[in-house]
Amino acid sequence: MDFKATLNTFQKRVESGIGQWVPSKDTAPSHLHAAMRYSLEAGGKRLRPIIVLAVAELFQTIEDPLPAAVALECIHTYSLIHDDLPTIDNSDLRRGKPTCHKQFDEPTALLAGDALLTLAFEILAKAYQKDSALAKDLILDLSSAAGSQRLIGGQMEDILGEHSDYTKEQLGYIHLNKTAALITSAMTMGARIGKAAEQEIAMLSEIGKCVGLSFQILDDILDATSDNQILGKPTGSDQENEKTTYIKLYGIEGAREQAKSLTGKARNLCMEIQGNNHFLMELIASLEHRIL
Ligand code: IPE
Ligand code: IPE
Ligand code: MG
Ligand code: MG
Ligand code: MG
Repeated sequence: MDFKATLNTFQKRVESGIGQWVPSKDTAPSHLHAAMRYSLEAGGKRLRPIIVLAVAELFQTIEDPLPAAVALECIHTYSLIHDDLPTIDNSDLRRGKPTCHKQFDEPTALLAGDALLTLAFEILAKAYQKDSALAKDLILDLSSAAGSQRLIGGQMEDILGEHSDYTKEQLGYIHLNKTAALITSAMTMGARIGKAAEQEIAMLSEIGKCVGLSFQILDDILDATSDNQILGKPTGSDQENEKTTYIKLYGIEGAREQAKSLTGKARNLCMEIQGNNHFLMELIASLEHRIL
């Protein structure tokens, strides 16, 4: 298997799913849909939707995982649009382009985020209506991962942790929720579409937790060590916003060690999953060094 070529094929499928499931920029009100499409089409690694597709295909899947992948990318993109707002992280650059509020304005960015969040659940309800038990499980996975005790809870604590001495436990809560929750739901949604057994869903959930935590640790490392052009978003912003990060509490080497051990654990668990897991194994490995 050629990892890069397979990754590229998955990315193209996600782009085409976005084209299919998200209203075009000319749909009224076109200003709103243009802003939603702008942020969705700005690029991005598409990690979460690719996980949905790759995990579903470990199993003999009957349902199409693409709408679920698109729904997840809608939630992720909304979370980035709102995260970048001046009142949260105040970022001007995202996915190599001006952020939504810079390209449009703050009210539009706020509403584009709201609309993407809502659209995600409309897509799930519509696309999986023939299998209502599956639709319910997918909606439950995604809504709880995106909700007040997971993604939003993590974002809340991330903001409250600015300028303060948060403990390692508090930081763990932030990263597990603001980032690992959605990555975990990518794994479990893929597994549910593949009609995986409960035990496999639980194992994929654990893999998602390890991958998600390590992904945010790497994000902290890159914020401190990479540059704007490579990342397509501002670096040094955590220090500027006085965030509590893995760098702050563990140092760069300590943070790297943790990321490495988490991806190692995820790969060990992944080896036990049925089906052709080569792509998933390589995807997890690529995250340790952020080749992706
Ligand atoms: C950025 O996520 C936000 C974090 C949770 C670290 P990604 O690094 O996956 O961003 P895109 O989707 O590739 O732009
Ligand atoms: C954001 O974490 C996680 C989200 C839920 C959006 P960051 O604030 O570190 O993400 P970036 O660095 O802006 O992408
Ligand atoms: Mg943030
Ligand atoms: Mg941010
Ligand atoms: Mg960051």
